[in-house]
Amino acid sequence: MSASSKVRVGIVGTGRWARVVHAPGVVSHPEAELVAVCSRNRENAEAMARTFGVPHAVTDYRELIELDGLDAVIVATTNVTHHPICMAALERGLHVFCEKPLGMTLTEAREMRGAAERAGVKHMVAFTCRWLPHAMYLKELLAEGRVGRVYHVNVTKMAGYAGAGSPRVWRFDRALSGGGVLADLGVHMIDLARWYLGEIRSVCADARTVIGERRDPEGREMLPCEVDDAVAFLAEFASGVQGVFHISWVAHKGHEQTIDICGENGTLVFGASPEAWELSLLGSTAGEKRLVPIEVPDRLMEGIDGSSPETGWRSFIEGYPSMARRFIDTIARDESPSPSFDDGVRAQAVMEAVMRSSGERRWVAVEE
Ligand SMILES: NC(=O)c1ccc[n+]([C@@H]2O[C@H](COP(=O)([O-])OP(=O)(O)OC[C@H]3O[C@@H](n4cnc5c(N)ncnc54)[C@H](OP(=O)(O)O)[C@@H]3O)[C@@H](O)[C@H]2O)c1
Repeated sequence: MSASSKVRVGIVGTGRWARVVHAPGVVSHPEAELVAVCSRNRENAEAMARTFGVPHAVTDYRELIELDGLDAVIVATTNVTHHPICMAALERGLHVFCEKPLGMTLTEAREMRGAAERAGVKHMVAFTCRWLPHAMYLKELLAEGRVGRVYHVNVTKMAGYAGAGSPRVWRFDRALSGGGVLADLGVHMIDLARWYLGEIRSVCADARTVIGERRDPEGREMLPCEVDDAVAFLAEFASGVQGVFHISWVAHKGHEQTIDICGENGTLVFGASPEAWELSLLGSTAGEKRLVPIEVPDRLMEGIDGSSPETGWRSFIEGYPSMARRFIDTIARDESPSPSFDDGVRAQAVMEAVMRSSGERRWVAVEE
């Protein structure tokens, strides 16, 4: 850490997630200082620097990484750039917090994990859903054995932001995103399911492109679009748990997710529409005929003002549970980061198996 004893952080990317989530998380941490931001577009970099009172606005990530006294980098850019930016930052010995998916491919993700481990720095992946209070409490209830041996899990993530009218931004270009809805949204649910239930051993999948062409962002012409819009897969966990996943970004449903875990002693159901701050945790025990709400303890809601969707989401981002703040904590207090690049690699391995399974129309083992 720098002589000022604050963790000095740079953010690469000035897009939505960098501005709405990461920068507020860093600047609200008493032990952190946001010292630099980077976008290839100078105006964007300078605008974000002004908003958050950041001294350095640069247009090349290498310049940011080379800044004297920098301790850590948050990589919140288009997926194709995660690997080169993280590798450069790790080479320089910086702590790295990378957006999901960790890499474009399993090979890239493994290289990033290897470099992070060799560098001996803190490394974390932005699996946002893990920090939702209801998600954390579900983890605790499972660890306490609330449902006993788990029989099966049903996982859905249904969003509607990729309907036919949405322009062909980088998310719909495989060369920039690495994949469609699976890489964008499915990866969160794969991570949550792994976190709760352990490793997924094999999958049998069907991935569909529902909208075959989209208009380019300038609105001039229709371009082909080949990424997955809707993905369904069966999963066999190493523990024997049976999983069913369904992920879509063409379901006009806002942005909803559920994890429904059924075991020998009962059921737990976590539902969320995170940015609308609609969160629920329901449960039943064996013999009961219906699910009832489970109250999340105050300690997990610390600093969260759930009085409206706006305050709920904002206080989640800026408050104690925020991802960026946890990343700073791991550096300031020398704690082990979680989810780490290893979690990023394992989620990526599941995604690759899903896409291979869909292409080959058969069950595929997940690489370790
Ligand atoms: N964890 C979550 O829940 C969550 C939610 C949303 C997004 N994300 C992830 O966050 C990342 C960004 O998504 P977004 O929604 O913020 O996208 P976005 O709004 O399109 O922003 C992408 C940003 O990347 C920047 N960028 C691209 N290449 C760059 C480079 N070589 N150097 C510097 N900046 C570069 C772009 O700026 P210029 O083009 O001006 O350089 C832009 O600021 C993605 O990996 C996405 O998967 C995660």
